[in-house]
This record gives sequence, structure tokens and C-alpha cells, in this order.
Amino acid sequence: LSSIFVDVGGLEPGSQLTVSFLGKPVFLRRRTAEEIEAGRAVSVDELTIDQESRNPNKPGTDASDANRTMDDEGEWLVMTGVCTHLGCVPLGNGAGDFGGWFCPCHGSHYDTAGRIRRGPAPENMHIPVATFVDDTTVQLG
Ligand code: FES
Repeated sequence: LSSIFVDVGGLEPGSQLTVSFLGKPVFLRRRTAEEIEAGRAVSVDELTIDQESRNPNKPGTDASDANRTMDDEGEWLVMTGVCTHLGCVPLGNGAGDFGGWFCPCHGSHYDTAGRIRRGPAPENMHIPVATFVDDTTVQLG
């Protein structure tokens, strides 16, 4: 399996990078304090569409905010930027009714942790195998 290394050192809170990995876009977002707070305030019970983390780095876990992010503080969210409905690329930077991402193809709203909250998409956006290899470099794959 191939891996790529992404330098996220230049990312300010509230910004993100999109890279291509295994033929799909991957979003690497450095979340703001407000985005972290919004994500952490949601209990798993409120996730009525999908309660699984979809995170192979934390297999079998629920979709609590902490299980979706790379670091304990919840600043770093890395996920495959593909809508789980029919595969469009959702719009980011606070889009949609839940302040995260919005898929304009058929109206799926994702929250600040990339969890599906309303619309036809059946699953949270998936998270790729990812790890920090140093303070500013993320290895995908
Ligand atoms: Fe995203 Fe249908 S592909 S809502």
C-alpha cells in the first residue's frame, strides 16, 4: 500500500487543505475552538443517521467527536472528502446547517466533525488511515 506525507504546518485554525489520495480528495482541517466545542457538545444519541466513527484509526468506536479527530484536543480532523450518498465532494468551511460541510448534489448536511446530520447520505464521512509522524506532518495510508 502506498502512503503520502502531507505538511500541515502552514494551516491556521479554521483552514484546511485538500489533497488527492488513492484517487479521492482528503480534507485535512485544523478546527477552530468553536468548531471543536460544537462537535464535542453533540452526544452520540443525537446522531440519528450514523453512530459509528468510521475511523479505522479507532476501529469499532462510536462517532463521538473525540473518536473522529486525530489528536486528543480535537484540533485535527482528517477525512475523505466524499459524500457517502453518491460520492459528490461536499463543500466545506462551515457550510450547511451544522457548520461543517454541505453536499449540494442532494442536500446532505455534515457537522464540524464530518458527521451526517441531515439529508440522504447514510454514513459519516469516512476517515482514512492517518497518523502524525511529527508535529506538522500527516502520513496518509
Ligand atoms: Fe451528496 Fe447525494 S451525493 S447528497
